Amino acid sequence: MCKDDNTIKELIIGRRVGFYKVRGEIGCGTFSRVKLAFHALTKDKVALKILDKTRLDTQAQRLLSREISSMEFLRHPNVVLLYEVVETPSRLHLVLEYAGGGDLHNRICNEGKLSDTTSKITFAQILSAIKYMHNINIIHRDLKAENVLFTSSGCVKVADFGFSTRVSNRNKVLDTFCGSPPYAAPELFQDECYLGPPVDVWAMGVLLFFMVTGTMPFRADTMGKLRRSIIEANYIVPPWLPGPCQRLIKGILKTIPAERYAVDQILGCDWLLPVEFPWSLVAPEPTGLLEGHHRADDRLYCLPCKSAES
Ligand code: ADE
Repeated sequence: MCKDDNTIKELIIGRRVGFYKVRGEIGCGTFSRVKLAFHALTKDKVALKILDKTRLDTQAQRLLSREISSMEFLRHPNVVLLYEVVETPSRLHLVLEYAGGGDLHNRICNEGKLSDTTSKITFAQILSAIKYMHNINIIHRDLKAENVLFTSSGCVKVADFGFSTRVSNRNKVLDTFCGSPPYAAPELFQDECYLGPPVDVWAMGVLLFFMVTGTMPFRADTMGKLRRSIIEANYIVPPWLPGPCQRLIKGILKTIPAERYAVDQILGCDWLLPVEFPWSLVAPEPTGLLEGHHRADDRLYCLPCKSAES
C-alpha cells in the first residue's frame, strides 16, 4: 500500500492516517478536531481525534498524556474505546471507537427530556461505565451531556477523558478544578482538595436531572451566582417526577461529599429496579477486524435509548 501513488498522496494531504481514510469533521475542541474516518481494509468507522503537536502547551501536553494513559486501561462496552494512537511529525491521532448516534446534550436540546424508561436505560449505562472506571481508580472529572455519546443502535458510550486522572487509590485527594461549571460539585468551588469519586457522582446527579426534566438543576447568568446556587444546593426537584427518581436525585445532589450516595447505593436504588431489557431492539454487533476489541457479551450492556416505550 505504501508504494501506491494515490496512498502516498492521501498521506501527504492528510486524507489518510495509517490505515484510515479520513472524511469530514464531526467535532472540535480547544486543542483538537474530531474527524470521521474508516479503516481502508475492514471499512470500520472510527472517530479520529487530531491534535496539532506544535500547538500544545505544557498543560495541554500533560492532559493529553493523562487522556491516553487513562484510555489505555479502559475496556468497557459503555466507554469509548481507544484503538490506537498514530503519530506523524506534526500531529497525534487518537483512533477512537465511533459513536454515530449523536450526544445526549443535542438529543435533549432537539427532542426534549427523555422518558422515564429511556432515562433509566441511559443512566444505568453511564452508571455502569463510572462504576467500572472507579473500580480501576480512574476518575473522569468531565462528565456532562456533551460527553455522553450514543452508537447508532442507541448504546451509551462515555467519551472525552481529557480531564481524567488515575489515582493510586479512591481516597486520594485531588486539587485541580476540572470540568464544566454547571456539572461541578460544591467542594470544587470551596475546598482546595477533593475526593475523585464523589465529584463524578455529583455530575451524574446533574445528568440525571437533565435527562428526566430537560433542564439543568443549577442555572445562573453569572459564575458567582452559579457557584452560590451549587454550594447551597439550591435546586428544585419537580414534584411530577416519580418518587423513586426524586429520592435518587436528592441522594446524589447532597452538598457534603461524605453524605452523597456512593455508586453502589445508586446501583441499588428503587428507581433503577424495574428496567426491562428491550432485547428486540438490540442491533447485532458489526463484524470486522476491530471487533476483536470488544467482549463477547457486549450486547448485555448495549441498551438502546429509543427504547420500549413505543
Ligand atoms: N465526537 C467525539 N468523539 C466521538 C466519537 N468517539 N464518536 C463520534 N463522535 C465523536
